Amino acid sequence: MSRIAGGVRHLPLGYDLRYVAATDSTNRLARDLPPAGWQHGTVLFTDYQEEGRGRKGRAWTAPSGSSLLLSLLLNLPDHVSPADLIMAASLAVADAASDAVGIPASLKWPNDVLIRGKKLSGILAEYAPEEGRRRAVLGIGLNVNFDPAEAGIADATGLCAVVGAELDREEVAVVLLTRIDAWYARLVENPDAVFAAWARRLETVGQPVVVLESGESWSGEAIAVERGGGLVVRPVTGSTRVVLAADVSIRRPGSFTTS
Ligand code: BTN
Repeated sequence: MSRIAGGVRHLPLGYDLRYVAATDSTNRLARDLPPAGWQHGTVLFTDYQEEGRGRKGRAWTAPSGSSLLLSLLLNLPDHVSPADLIMAASLAVADAASDAVGIPASLKWPNDVLIRGKKLSGILAEYAPEEGRRRAVLGIGLNVNFDPAEAGIADATGLCAVVGAELDREEVAVVLLTRIDAWYARLVENPDAVFAAWARRLETVGQPVVVLESGESWSGEAIAVERGGGLVVRPVTGSTRVVLAADVSIRRPGSFTTS
């Protein structure tokens, strides 16, 4: 931890780093902090989560000590929406992954970071306003020395699988927090510019997709994203729909990628 602290201490977000060896979920830990213990810029790290939370009630798992599992506490300014925060975070994780392995990472709607078409990272932002503060918990899981493909999750990957060697987790953490700091500063300065950057980087737009929504599955083409983050999909039949909370798979010949 002290190496991470040394690498990020100068950054404007004023990171305050905390570490617990194991917990159920760093997002749960963050959300349950008493108001007096809640401080903008605090980061909760752990080596192991017993009940790591993913999107849509799913689990997020990683072997102990293998990956980066963290939650960042933020008080959002009035002009920054929680949806915009997720866009900035996705861009930060993608940039950090590219920095770490030297090849570009892309984004899959809504907030998955992909490398070579496989999911590398998950982001779970939870908005928990309290006592006039627009509190947000930004939870990030980044597979570093864990390759989910080896555990049978074929559409996911880890940085180690990309470079073919173990990486120094603390170095990756410094890169990640540095990128988050920079994208957060851009977000506060100009949320529209962050949205534009996110929309440009989304590989989902322009692709044929399968949408799985409330138990219903349908096909179409992703044609755009709305300013609020919704995915605009033109179905094979019928009129254009905006997808907000669905699972979307990109239809590649012979394969599916689902978040
Ligand atoms: C997803 O489903 O893609 C989002 C996964 C988010 C996982 C991270 S790991 C650290 C933080 N704590 C949690 O319980 N979840 C997030």
